Amino acid sequence: MDKYEQRAVLGGSFLMLIFFVAVVIATTGFGVTVPTCIVDVKPFKHGQLLKLADKHYELHAVAKMWSFDPPEITIPPGSRLDIFLTSPDVAHGFNIEKTNINLMAIPGQVTYASLTFDQNEWGNFRLFCHEYCGMNHHAMQGWIKVWPAAALGATNQPVQQPAPAARPAEKPTDTTTQQSNGGAKQ
Ligand code: CUA
Repeated sequence: MDKYEQRAVLGGSFLMLIFFVAVVIATTGFGVTVPTCIVDVKPFKHGQLLKLADKHYELHAVAKMWSFDPPEITIPPGSRLDIFLTSPDVAHGFNIEKTNINLMAIPGQVTYASLTFDQNEWGNFRLFCHEYCGMNHHAMQGWIKVWPAAALGATNQPVQQPAPAARPAEKPTDTTTQQSNGGAKQ
């Protein structure tokens, strides 16, 4: 074998070994895994958040033109979130910023991934579609809100969003302050 050919083969083998070690470290050390496509769960039409146990939630997410259902959820820090994702129309993306959740919502299929938030990690995590899906693709986003119970107010319990009841309750206080302010100025 030619001297240079030998070096190329050796160098290539060495690179393959490095890549293999990198994959092993990523899966074992950093928990980077490939999302699984679930075959024994039928695609669903409506999104919801289920509380399975303390700090253990199951999200049924529907990505559709051009929104997510539910559009936002609120869970406490340290929670484990099991995500089941599907789409009724075209392929969408499902990416939660600042996490390693990066999924595809595929019509007729259910994709699964699990995510556990750190106990000290909280705030609003934007959820966005990263697969071009039509005219309003750029506006397709949602929110994963990770808040301590204390920051959630009177209910003292992380509640399921999109809680349509919670929003009208916030609005009256907002509008009255705005109205009284507006009235005072004029
Ligand atoms: Cu949905 Cu892009």
